[in-house]
Amino acid sequence: MRIAVPKETAPLERRVGLVPDGVARLVKAGHAIVVEQGAGVSAGIPDAAFTHAGATVAPDFAGTVAGADLVAKVQRPTPGEVALLPEGSLLVSYLQPSAQRELLAALAARNVTAFAMELVPRSTKAQSIDSLSSQATVAGYKAVLLGAGMLPKLLPMLTTAAGTLAPGRVFVLGAGVAGLQAIATARRLGAIVSAFDVRPVVREQVQSLGAAFVEAEAVSTAAEGAGGYAKELADEQQQKVLDAIGKVLPAIDLVVSTAQIPGRPAPRLITKEMVASMSAGSVIVDLAAETGGNCELTRAGETVVAHGVSIVGAVNLASTVPLHASQMYGRNVLTLVQHLLANGGAFQVDVADEITGAMAVTHGGAVRFPAA
Ligand code: NAI
Repeated sequence: MRIAVPKETAPLERRVGLVPDGVARLVKAGHAIVVEQGAGVSAGIPDAAFTHAGATVAPDFAGTVAGADLVAKVQRPTPGEVALLPEGSLLVSYLQPSAQRELLAALAARNVTAFAMELVPRSTKAQSIDSLSSQATVAGYKAVLLGAGMLPKLLPMLTTAAGTLAPGRVFVLGAGVAGLQAIATARRLGAIVSAFDVRPVVREQVQSLGAAFVEAEAVSTAAEGAGGYAKELADEQQQKVLDAIGKVLPAIDLVVSTAQIPGRPAPRLITKEMVASMSAGSVIVDLAAETGGNCELTRAGETVVAHGVSIVGAVNLASTVPLHASQMYGRNVLTLVQHLLANGGAFQVDVADEITGAMAVTHGGAVRFPAA
């Protein structure tokens, strides 16, 4: 099969859809890989690393995807790029299917079978394809570094000849993939860390990382939904959550908020009154910015300062650590590609398959999202 890896063109996107390790494995299995010139450069991967792995390099998007059976990207293609995708080919990338109806229609019109990387099921079988988790790991790590870099203080406790510095306090909201990595990173930097989540099952995970779990009456198994995700809370429970968080915030230097419910706006966990209760100089890094933010004052892609508190509406943090983010994303894509090749040398799309069926948003000339 012929697999194409174009250069990403979305603003600030520095990742690439496959890395040389994945290329080498696919070439060894008898496939031909074409990489667009410079596709890995912003992730620190030169063209030579791809050719060394057995890929050929094409000068532009059109030359890269010509004759491709599968195109591996990070961000969704532009309309101009869709027009160049070979009819009947497969596409793997983030597609934001719920917001991109026109894109899906255009892909279906070209008879492209498109796999949305954000729709990978959270199951043991699909774990190694789960790019939401792999990229959230990077984002959780980077969120702490970003916030720490903005604080007017150090995070570790230091005893020096010039006096003793008290350790910084970090509070992590939502202890899923990004949150647990944020906790671990803040602990490594020497902060005193606490965390809150509505799912009681994560209490032990939080504590095993050396952080304190903030208790609230709303923390109950009733908040657990399918696939390890949370459900939306009833108003009364939501108020209990706000009360518990509100008590903690005045003593906190850095908040990393990651609470999410799939397919829903981010739960509102920090009101503007709660921001006003925090010390001037403290920082909130809101990873849920793109789905509306966990903080009432968050604006996606911007840093807002209110009452001396900086609220960072972080977007696409994974792309700011492009080499390792690409390495993990590329492994997720490779595993999906291998899954689609499972029955031999050619791609087979079986929409009855649990993984393929959940991720394929267009197939056979039709849009199949949202699923019936
Ligand atoms: P996840 O689903 O693994 O974790 C979210 C956690 O939030 C879950 O543990 C859930 O129980 C918890 N939660 C839900 N409602 C809550 C509430 N009312 N109070 C407290 N906790 C609550 O999600 P993951 O993969 O860790 O992603 C977290 C967020 O980060 C998502 O919004 C995701 O889109 C975002 N993200 C942002 C990136 C960026 O660069 N800004 C990059 C990667 C992820």
